[in-house]
Amino acid sequence: MEKQIQETTNLADLQALYTSVFGKNGTMTAKLRQMATLDNDARAKLNNENTRLRELFRVRQAEIENAEMMANLKKQKLDATLSPLPENRGTLHPLTHSLHEISTILESFGYTMWTGPEIEDDWHNFTALNTPAHHPARDMQDTFFMPNGNVLRTQTSAIQIRAMETHGVPIKMFGIGSTYRKEMDATHSPMFHQIEGLYVDKNITMSDLIGDVKEFLKRFFEMDDVKIRIRPSYFPFTEPSIEIDMLWQGKKWLEIMGAGMVHPNVLANCGINPNEYQGFAFGFGWDRLAMLKYNLNDIRKFYDGDVRWLKNAGF
Ligand code: PHE
Repeated sequence: MEKQIQETTNLADLQALYTSVFGKNGTMTAKLRQMATLDNDARAKLNNENTRLRELFRVRQAEIENAEMMANLKKQKLDATLSPLPENRGTLHPLTHSLHEISTILESFGYTMWTGPEIEDDWHNFTALNTPAHHPARDMQDTFFMPNGNVLRTQTSAIQIRAMETHGVPIKMFGIGSTYRKEMDATHSPMFHQIEGLYVDKNITMSDLIGDVKEFLKRFFEMDDVKIRIRPSYFPFTEPSIEIDMLWQGKKWLEIMGAGMVHPNVLANCGINPNEYQGFAFGFGWDRLAMLKYNLNDIRKFYDGDVRWLKNAGF
């Protein structure tokens, strides 16, 4: 029996052998049934035999299990010297990355970040911004209209209206978000992003505006000094209105943002007394600033979701 146990090489056979010995009709079971008829010596012998056999089965079972585990491990063959599979790490989208930079700077100046709805009503996108119905300035922006007269926000200026209405003055905020216009080429996308600053208090002047804008550009583009050029412009919601250009790499003037002193009508529309308060607003294309900083040339790439491009987007 001992030899038979030793020669068994798998658990199923061992189980069968065990049953043939200890099962209901097993040889040992039969012998044990006769126990009462045996004398003391024979009983002791039988008990020993019983214990020894059970132990032999137990040991053999452990051996077979161990052997099977080793065989399995061999099959799996772990090579600890193999280099790991390349790990695909995500990167921040260049817009997200630039927003972190932009908001860090503006917040350090005391501006608070605001957002607002992308589907805007006429009041917040146009009328409160001193652009009543039939105002020719509505044609400056090719607007997507909803059937109910709402619009896809054409400018983050809508957020400044909401901020003034709900927060009141004094206020120092910047609105960020997606904006929509019917236009599409390498530098225009029907959906793009704007960031807009607003500072209204009792003694705010154009020099405050220029100071903040210059300092902002200097920090964002990491320049020791920044040269800007101011041109008169027109926006219905600012008076006077200006456009700010920046000297790029010492040679090219680039149009960077629109700005101006908040029009008294806009303040009044938000329940603010324009004889008591005044302020400035500036707005720029967030995508455009990111493109300049990271040296990208096609705005549409921001929205393609091409991971290879995003990985190499330059920051
Ligand atoms: N909203 C203007 C635009 O979209 C930009 C702007 C913002 C101009 C704030 C002046 C002040 O062109």
